[in-house]
Amino acid sequence: MASAAVNSAIEKLANVQLNELSTSSSPNLQKNLSILSPEQIDLGKMLLEMGQGHLFEHWPDPGVEDDEKKALLTQVASLNSSYPGGLASYIKTAKELLADSKAGRNPFDGFTPSVPSGEVLTCGDDKFIEYEEVGVKQVQNAAFVLVAGGLGERLGYRGIKIALPMETTTGTCFLQHYIESILSLSEASCKQAQGESQRDVPLVIMTSDDTHERTLQLLESNAYFGMKPTQVKLLKQEKVACLADNDARLALDSNNKYKIQTKPHGHGDVNALLYSSGLLKEWKDAGLRWVLFFQDTNGLLFKAIPAALGVSETKQYHVNSLAVPRKAKEAIGGITKLTHTDGREMVINVEYNQLDPLLRATGHPDGDDNCETGYSPYPGNINQLILELGPYIDELTKTGGAIKEFVNPKYKDSTKTEFKSSTRLECMMQDYPKTLPPSARVGFTVTENWLAYAPVKNNADDAAKVPKGNPFHSATSGEMAIYGANSMILQKAGVKVDDPITQVFNGQEVEVWSRIVWKPTWAVTFSDVKSKVSGNNSVSQKSTLIINGRNIFIEDLSLNGALIVDSIDDAEVKVGGSVQNNGWAIETIDKDSTELPEEVRIRGFRIKKTEQLKQSYDEPGKFFLKS
Ligand code: UTP
Repeated sequence: MASAAVNSAIEKLANVQLNELSTSSSPNLQKNLSILSPEQIDLGKMLLEMGQGHLFEHWPDPGVEDDEKKALLTQVASLNSSYPGGLASYIKTAKELLADSKAGRNPFDGFTPSVPSGEVLTCGDDKFIEYEEVGVKQVQNAAFVLVAGGLGERLGYRGIKIALPMETTTGTCFLQHYIESILSLSEASCKQAQGESQRDVPLVIMTSDDTHERTLQLLESNAYFGMKPTQVKLLKQEKVACLADNDARLALDSNNKYKIQTKPHGHGDVNALLYSSGLLKEWKDAGLRWVLFFQDTNGLLFKAIPAALGVSETKQYHVNSLAVPRKAKEAIGGITKLTHTDGREMVINVEYNQLDPLLRATGHPDGDDNCETGYSPYPGNINQLILELGPYIDELTKTGGAIKEFVNPKYKDSTKTEFKSSTRLECMMQDYPKTLPPSARVGFTVTENWLAYAPVKNNADDAAKVPKGNPFHSATSGEMAIYGANSMILQKAGVKVDDPITQVFNGQEVEVWSRIVWKPTWAVTFSDVKSKVSGNNSVSQKSTLIINGRNIFIEDLSLNGALIVDSIDDAEVKVGGSVQNNGWAIETIDKDSTELPEEVRIRGFRIKKTEQLKQSYDEPGKFFLKS
């Protein structure tokens, strides 16, 4: 009885609240107040205030579909709490951005672009090596953040992207490579710091409902690939509500009128999640100085990380964007300094389709043009960021981690009154510098494309349609890029590695280099590689070389076939002499063959293991492999 009385009091109170707002806007909600909690009633009120009365239009009288009605408001509560500023703020921003989009307002109005300052590095030269050394020292003060919540629609792979083999010679998956790279870098860092106590370098993985469970499972079934489970934190991003029209009315699911459609909000969510989790503060208290953000399928990135971190430290960059040389008009965003007539300044990624018109409109008649280097002066953003922790926390304390959003509705026609399908607000982590004050030191580090950037984003059919000269960014090109980079690094270290041949897989013409792969324990920097090869070494194009051990030294080796060397840390192995065998070939496969696993089909080739020399050293001591 008592609780009935309380309920009725709540209902009366809520009725008063709703009446104040508008009785006519939602008589259906009004009728159902008795089944809702006070919090749910508040949310209903907020929705009405924000012009969302349509969500209740179809609500029957109490007693019918009550659980569904409550489920809708439970979903609203979760959408409300997971967005910085709540759902009302989301709807308000959406209305503004949709109005701007409809009016065709240019986000760069009033801004003049210019070339920002940054560092351009060449793998293996003195400057590169010096920066690497500085960077490695800093790894002990860094936390790594992998954004891995993306749907991967363009790739269309059924599993999670970080579980994909980065290359199929060893089958190492992206996540394993990332974790092993962090562990090896951290060990090297600790060695350099001599005596300072080693800390476990943290790794955060941002997941989403689409990737969370499978990411956890991948880690757990592989003993976290050698990391301590406590070292790894998963932060799950939530999706955001979809918008049905220019009034930012929330879109209901076509199969369930008690469910709001949701879609991913983008990788920019990582800021709010890091902030609200308290991790940033924890890291600062532990003395960390850097946060490194990276993405799910770039198998080359860790080759550029040490030098780029060295640049951050040397130049005291608050924000350092990793970049690659970019041909003018190439389909990759350019890092640009923007100066507004009102004095605002920012260094930011400008999408390639916006950069050229912006330059033309601001006194550069040739638009985005190559300069004397043969490349555009605006380097290509690869979306791997290094932030200095202190200024990052200061900024997020002001913004709560919210970052500038955008909306990209696909309109039915030029009247821009209706959408083809619902849209939503999105945010990207590279837009973080947009809110920074002009005093923030924002720069970039350019390294060669072959060294730092080979994402796996596109499915085979779409990759085959990429206009000539543009990168495929497919599983095929991603794997070939690993062999290419390792071969070129060895060349720079003095090894004679044969030039690649050209082959076509899944309709994509790629360079096929020797399949050279090493574990991060063998080398995480160019200097490591250099210190481990000496004498006259040669590797033929058809060869495969797998190096798996810390103290393996390549000296006067002539390889024409497949050679695999495994060793424990306490074994020191010199590898030399002439190794000749039938080796491992690359065999073209039919991507539509149902007998092959998807991981293989998306590459268009597989490794055919005919003959190899495999040597394992699992006892301590000094050894010499010479056939
Ligand atoms: P992509 O641009 O590759 O997007 O994301 P995607 O969602 O993975 O793939 P498509 O667009 O559906 O084909 C770049 C990085 O950002 C992460 C991805 O996992 C990838 O590492 N990401 C993307 C998130 O973590 N969350 C998101 O909401 C979107």
